[in-house]
Amino acid sequence: MLREVPVNITVKKGNLAETKTPVMILALCEGERKLPEMAARVDQQTGGLLGDMMKCGDFEAKPSQVSVIYTRGALPAQRIALVGLGKKSELTLEKIRGAFSKVMQHLRGLNIKEAATAIDGDLLPDQKENVVAAAVEGAILGQYHYASYKTVGRDEFKEMQLLEIVAAPEDYAVTLKEIQKTKIITDAVYLARDMVSAPANEMTPSIMAAHAQKIAKRKNVSCRVLDKGKMKALGMNALLGVAAGSQEPPKLIILEYTGGRKGDAPVALVGKGLTFDSGGISIKPAEKMDEMKTDMSGGAAVMATIMAAADLRLPVNIVGLVPATENMPGGSALKPGDILKSYSGKTIEVLNTDAEGRLILIDALSYASKYKPAAIIDIATLTGACVVALGEDVIGMLGTDEQLKRDINRSAQLTGERVWELPLWEHYGDLIKSDVADYKNSAGRMGGAITAAAFLSKFVGDYPWVHLDIAGPAWTTKDKAYIPKGASGVTVRLLVEYLQNYKQT
Ligand code: BES
Ligand code: MN
Ligand code: ZN
Repeated sequence: MLREVPVNITVKKGNLAETKTPVMILALCEGERKLPEMAARVDQQTGGLLGDMMKCGDFEAKPSQVSVIYTRGALPAQRIALVGLGKKSELTLEKIRGAFSKVMQHLRGLNIKEAATAIDGDLLPDQKENVVAAAVEGAILGQYHYASYKTVGRDEFKEMQLLEIVAAPEDYAVTLKEIQKTKIITDAVYLARDMVSAPANEMTPSIMAAHAQKIAKRKNVSCRVLDKGKMKALGMNALLGVAAGSQEPPKLIILEYTGGRKGDAPVALVGKGLTFDSGGISIKPAEKMDEMKTDMSGGAAVMATIMAAADLRLPVNIVGLVPATENMPGGSALKPGDILKSYSGKTIEVLNTDAEGRLILIDALSYASKYKPAAIIDIATLTGACVVALGEDVIGMLGTDEQLKRDINRSAQLTGERVWELPLWEHYGDLIKSDVADYKNSAGRMGGAITAAAFLSKFVGDYPWVHLDIAGPAWTTKDKAYIPKGASGVTVRLLVEYLQNYKQT
């Protein structure tokens, strides 16, 4: 399942107008009086074809508009694919990603296998490198499809095989470097999407652990997996309680990456690895229960991020903790009213077995303090309430550290992943107090995303901490610009961006 990215991206020195290719991609801005250099040259060689198209209004370069024309021998390229970027004054990295995704999808639809393009860094002069990365990111991420289990009609399947980036000699080195980085990051997004797309019978806690072991073959990465016996010995009864109803053995996956100096405090990433959430005895309705195979999206994001950090050789230490289990009803399952003693020693009254994410996370969050981390970030498909509050496209952010929140916001702005902060005032703590134990695991529907985070906060200790609730964006039921419907791999790019900018203190 750990497969190669299907679209191969190569870089060569040269001039796009002189490149032999089935199709050259030209990205243009809307309403410009003058064509940019490359387009002007192509226009001239085709006897004013581009100018005519724009004058007639056939191609206005609106965001993600695509038009394919034939060169009839006027250029070494057989076709020209024009793609719109919208008005230059409104251009963003997100629009660049979307445009390159759309044009590649269009060409795939025509059953074209190879394309060439040149990326004009001056589109956003103060972010030249990011422009190159965004174009390639869009091109690759929009091509994602889950290697399916279909056995019929496979030969009709279309796939782009190559995108050649033609760079001027003076831009070659920078372009190559950006593309190598981008490939590593999109590989990681593909891994996260593949893991989340896999059905729960093919993505059990044991299989997740096996993937972690594979990631740990990299330099400076090691993996340990705590099994049920070890968890019992450690007293991780919150995690074990959730696992009690399932036949699948739970695993606590620990991935360590040591790219930083020895002794530098690591960044701890904790990801919810619930491989199937039936709700347990507080069982969920049948409708859409299948989507609960995605309840390990946070765990997948953590694993993929560590893979990318290792491949990028980032100079930082990271520890990834992924509590992995199913949540199932069964004769030995957790029952509403049960009381558990967590790894931290604090007790929890389980009022709703469907509020299981917070139970598995707190044992991992408390365990994280063993590493004396510089920061803890947890990523979880934690609450339906977060989706109600912010919508399906937005990550809910709650936490205790202003600097960490600012850093995450900044990374999210660059990667186009929408993050919005929800408050975590102290009074929310009152809502999760239990009459019989220290805390209860559910405070009902009101403010559900916040009370869930308030619950987690009781187990993180004094470390800078941020919680990202990805219940909305982890899975999409509609195609988005460069996220085909299904698993999004959300937060992988955000976390890698955060770690790339991370400065040890
Ligand atoms: N995994 C779910 C949250 C979820 C909902 C993820 C929709 C993705 C899409 C979580 O374990 C859950 O069931 N949460 C409950 C909590 C409630 C019982 C307090 C919820 O949100 O309803
Ligand atoms: Mn649940
Ligand atoms: Zn869940």
